[in-house]
Amino acid sequence: MYYPEELVEEIRQKNDIVDIISGYVSLKRKGGNYFGLCPFHNEKTGSFSVSQNKQMYYCFGCGAGGNVITFIMNYENYTFGEALRLLADRAGVELPEIEDSKENREKETKRQKLLEINKEAAKYFYYQLRMPQGSIGLQYFQKRQLTEDTMKQFGLGFSNKTSNDLVQYLRSKGFSDELIRDSGVAVFHEKYGLNDKFWNRVMFPIQDSNHRVIGFGGRVLGEGEPKYLNSPETQIFDKSRNLYGLNFARTSRKNNIILCEGYMDVIAMHQAGFTQAVASLGTAFTSGQANLLRRYAQNVILSYDSDGAGVKAALRAIGILKEAGLSGKVLNLEPYKDPDEFIKNLGPEEFQKRLDQAENCFLFEIRMLEKNYDLSDPDSKTRFLTEIAKKLCGFSEEVERENYIEAVAQKYYIGRDSLRKLVVGQAAREGMTKEYVRPKAPKGQKQQEKGDQVQRLLLTWLVEVPQLYHKIKVYISPQDFTNSLYRQVAEMLFEDIEKGNVNPAAIISRFEEEEEQRDIARLFHTKLDFLDEESEDGNGMEEKAEREKAFHDILVKVKKNAYEADVRASGTDLAAMQRMVDGKVALAQLEKTHISID
Ligand code: CTP
Ligand code: MN
Repeated sequence: MYYPEELVEEIRQKNDIVDIISGYVSLKRKGGNYFGLCPFHNEKTGSFSVSQNKQMYYCFGCGAGGNVITFIMNYENYTFGEALRLLADRAGVELPEIEDSKENREKETKRQKLLEINKEAAKYFYYQLRMPQGSIGLQYFQKRQLTEDTMKQFGLGFSNKTSNDLVQYLRSKGFSDELIRDSGVAVFHEKYGLNDKFWNRVMFPIQDSNHRVIGFGGRVLGEGEPKYLNSPETQIFDKSRNLYGLNFARTSRKNNIILCEGYMDVIAMHQAGFTQAVASLGTAFTSGQANLLRRYAQNVILSYDSDGAGVKAALRAIGILKEAGLSGKVLNLEPYKDPDEFIKNLGPEEFQKRLDQAENCFLFEIRMLEKNYDLSDPDSKTRFLTEIAKKLCGFSEEVERENYIEAVAQKYYIGRDSLRKLVVGQAAREGMTKEYVRPKAPKGQKQQEKGDQVQRLLLTWLVEVPQLYHKIKVYISPQDFTNSLYRQVAEMLFEDIEKGNVNPAAIISRFEEEEEQRDIARLFHTKLDFLDEESEDGNGMEEKAEREKAFHDILVKVKKNAYEADVRASGTDLAAMQRMVDGKVALAQLEKTHISID
């Protein structure tokens, strides 16, 4: 992190978290907190909570959490620096320009360096396309009827026939071989050293939703195998959480998103004015991508190839969309293979008509299912209808289910009541909707999880009631937190308490990894219910005794857990042996000491 900590703090404090998040999520006040629908996963009831006091958010459903900076990073897919810039601008705080010096380069995180390399590579390819050696690439794109503007907008480029010109270019920019390899644009061979990954291909830079280049797709000129070569997954390129074209589609302001398979399809559609088109990245559509789409549109129109593989992919995608709470439709481009061909042959107006006629995805599923049955044969038809009934059970809303029963009954000439009976029968046999079964954690992890849990509880308790710290500090130190993340948090928190200034949201921004931030947000955001429940039935004394016992138990467990870890380490670690001796005394003392929680 290269901005001074005080500056980060100032910017964070000047951006009230409720204000900022309200700009993205509709929040309702409930008690001391605000609640809304979580933007990071699909849900119908609001488990996303924002605390104005603590200046933090946390989702009880999916575990997303952090402070205002984390929120912008996650929502906008920004780096820390980018999120900080947005918030600084908003609060009118001046951010010092960071010079591109060697020193600053060294301070950048690896992620930022990989982004930098991909950006440089994109510039390089772009430039090559416009040089004499790139003219075959340019001709290829022209033959496919792309305009100069389109090529520019998508940053299309060309990789030369030379085997390591890009590597040399990147080296000249000061990037190390290790970074160049890890960026995905080069491949390391024992025998040949570091070489360009892409040769003699037209290049499609893949951008994330904020226009940052995170990888490439490279297509052969004409025929040849493999037709496309893609960057491997890297620290910045997660194929399951990005979509080609989303950086433009997200601001297209159409009320739908068109999801297709190919880079060329996306480009052809955008050129024809369908700027809401996106494609997956040479891999199958994932739930991560569905969640991404959900931020921008409710309706997704699938445009997959009409061949067997395309239909199969479409059926899978439909399931994923449904799970994400999106409604899907399927585009029919017959007799053409894909949007690119269709638009070339019939033009944008015809394409718009097909969009308007896109088929409801449930009816599409049924129509595809139908192909496996012979409806003139009564047995086969019964099995087909039973299959449909099973699918109809998937609609938990009665109105919706009824509407589909009606539509199917009409289409296949079967009485509505008979179909309904079939559905009810299926439901009785298999249950209306499937329940989600959580996978179990492996046994070995259990012990550690228990240790983590009490450490977390203790920290939660101390954030809620900081003055307790002064009573326990003779027994507990940050060293007792065996989980290294919690140990760091304990150090910061204890120091803050000593200074009389507890500030959980500030602690979060001192951690760089998203996972860490989430974990800390969870621990600071957990509510100890009993802390604000004042008893009304006169059992105050008893309840207080219970809480004291609970708190005491947690303390003892944390101490014991630390002691046991020291015992295990004492064979090889002198410091651990010393701690073990001290720990034993402290533990014995703690066990017989009463700690009042007033
Ligand atoms: N794809 C890939 N690797 C391949 C073939 C395809 O990664 N060997 C991915 C690419 O993302 C491609 C998409 O699958 O864009 C669709 O493939 P295809 O329909 O074959 O290509 P188009 O994008 O339609 O390209 P073109 O029109 O140039 O044939
Ligand atoms: Mn194509």
